[in-house]
Amino acid sequence: MDPYLSEWLNLVIRWIHVITGVAWIGASFYFNWLEGHLERNKNLPKGVAGDLWAVHGGGFYHVQKYEVAPQTLPKTLHWFKWEAYTTWLSGMTLLFIVYYSVPEVYLINTAVAALPPVAAIALSLGTLLAGWLGYHQLCKTALAEKPTLFFCVLFLALTTIAFFFSQFLNPRAAYIHTGALIGTLMVGNVFFVIIPSQRTLVNALMAGNRPDPSVGNQGFIRSLHNNYFTLPVLFIMVSNHFPSTFTHSMNWLVLAALSAIGIAVRHYFNLKNKGRNERWLLPAAALATLVLAFVIRPQPTTSTTRTITTEQAFTIVQTHCRQCHSAQPTDAHFQTAPNGVTFDTEADLERQAAQVYARTVATQSMPLGNTTHMSLAERELLGHWYQSIQQKDE
Ligand code: HEC
Repeated sequence: MDPYLSEWLNLVIRWIHVITGVAWIGASFYFNWLEGHLERNKNLPKGVAGDLWAVHGGGFYHVQKYEVAPQTLPKTLHWFKWEAYTTWLSGMTLLFIVYYSVPEVYLINTAVAALPPVAAIALSLGTLLAGWLGYHQLCKTALAEKPTLFFCVLFLALTTIAFFFSQFLNPRAAYIHTGALIGTLMVGNVFFVIIPSQRTLVNALMAGNRPDPSVGNQGFIRSLHNNYFTLPVLFIMVSNHFPSTFTHSMNWLVLAALSAIGIAVRHYFNLKNKGRNERWLLPAAALATLVLAFVIRPQPTTSTTRTITTEQAFTIVQTHCRQCHSAQPTDAHFQTAPNGVTFDTEADLERQAAQVYARTVATQSMPLGNTTHMSLAERELLGHWYQSIQQKDE
């Protein structure tokens, strides 16, 4: 595809993905909050479980929650489902636009595994499908009656899948795919379970039957999972910006740690919504983040007396980076320099020495997909060059 066209397609679909994702998760946060703040133990009309008052945007709102359902159905009833569906559809479209259309750059990294593109795409789509089917079955077992144990099992299973992805895919693709899988489970829950059970409820009412209260509860375990998946997924969706996480040699474990931190934060808010203020959870999450950042810090390259000149470093960058990072890229997939970063002159290189070091030595997230086959020896040379420059500056 023409790179300029593909950039705009990416822009439009990504924009839609972010907007609908915000709308979906925003509504979900709101209803979780609402559920937790309903005032239940007061004089309420018959059949009403709780109510609350709120002020927002200059207006007063009075919301009531029914024990099961109102006696008669209102003419207009709002459903919340298209946000979730559109988020998934746009996300899947992005997988095609970014990862499947240029698999050798974004999906595969021959240093990780030399998969043929078709195999990598099959692995990607196959895992999403198998992941959903496996999870859907698991929800029908007795595990569903033990929510905490069930969630721990899920966490371990997803960590195993993240490990699996990390063994075959480009590291950033491994992260995004773990997120795509969790997102798929969440949307699958909405599409296959939560909305259908709501529909059963509404149909019963329309037929004039008293709905079975347990119907509303069928989506409970799924909603609970969606609730705790939210923060890990949100991190994964922006993880592309943080190469220190996804390029770590144990990137799947780093992801598990960050996810656990996100889950702890979500747990804090869930408890708070129920009136339990477990304040220690937030500082504990902050501390865990600091510890993680410390543990995975890039190791300094072995100090050396070797002096590499900028001229020598520039030769390496010419060979491995300028295809993309130039005012006139020659790489077929880029018509403009990615993120505006160019290495057309030695001055360009010196000015961006810290970024080059971060991307080629500390995290090895560049060259993208290592399409230009930069060797470890060359990375080491760039490391020496960076040290030489630093010493010069001192
Ligand atoms: C195949 C094309 C390609 C090649 C080759 C390539 N890059 Fe990149 N580079 C990208 C893309 C795309 C991005 C933006 C996405 C990202 O940050 O991962 C990027 C981002 C970067 C960034 C981050 C810019 C920012 O603002 O955060 C740096 C630094 C960088 N590259 C350095 C290099 C260096 C040094 C090399 C050579 C060793 C290199 N790149 C080779 C495509 C490439």
